[in-house]
Amino acid sequence: MRRRIIAGNWKMNKTRDEAVDLVGDLKETLADVGDVEVVVCPPFTALDAVREALRGSNIELGAQNMHWEEEGAFTGEISPLMLRNLGCMYVILGHSERRTYFGETDETVNRKVKSAMANGLLPIVCVGETLDERDAGKTEEVVVRQTKAALSGVKTNGAERIVIAYEPVWAIGTGRTASGDEANRVIRIIRQSVAEVFNERIAQEVRIQYGGSVKPQNIADFLGQPEIDGALVGGASLDAASFAAIVKSR
Ligand code: PGA
Repeated sequence: MRRRIIAGNWKMNKTRDEAVDLVGDLKETLADVGDVEVVVCPPFTALDAVREALRGSNIELGAQNMHWEEEGAFTGEISPLMLRNLGCMYVILGHSERRTYFGETDETVNRKVKSAMANGLLPIVCVGETLDERDAGKTEEVVVRQTKAALSGVKTNGAERIVIAYEPVWAIGTGRTASGDEANRVIRIIRQSVAEVFNERIAQEVRIQYGGSVKPQNIADFLGQPEIDGALVGGASLDAASFAAIVKSR
């Protein structure tokens, strides 16, 4: 049985002080949650303060991106060692906004996934098709390509701890969502790709989330699907009440 994982991707939102307020509220509201793994991914500038604020809670910390090198002349970048040192357990990699606006490719995402694993960080690898790709009937081809590329060359040992987020790009921040059935179908295909890269056991253990306009009102439709192991939540994770409602959805 895979343990459900709900992660909040705060994107470029929340100052340090706002971030501390938000996790203060979450810590209280989610204190009784044990069966779901909860992760918050604040901007880099709030990681340290959020780590302090989360002490004694059951909420894990994640970052939204990183460079693949451990250190060096890469102005403006953040390394896996730095994230580990700040107490991060997870790092979101290959988010569509990074692919679209910041030139991330299947190759750079793969480098980052390998580096994260080598440095003791668990990647939340994002894959998903654009609207054009969907309309052209290429959803399956795109998610298979992105999944296999991201995981290529990753050691099998420990690979079951990788998390994948299926985020149809046309559903991110738009208020449109895939249906639960549709997301379940694509996630089954992603899981098959994981089996082809590693093996069937790992594919059955890897957790695959749905992401894209997840809200308290629609989360149950996704979590009711057999292949969907949780959600990567953007906008609705910025408000303690709505994120808590998503985490507590049954
Ligand atoms: P959204 O973002 O929930 O605001 O659509 C999801 C994501 O980009 O991870």
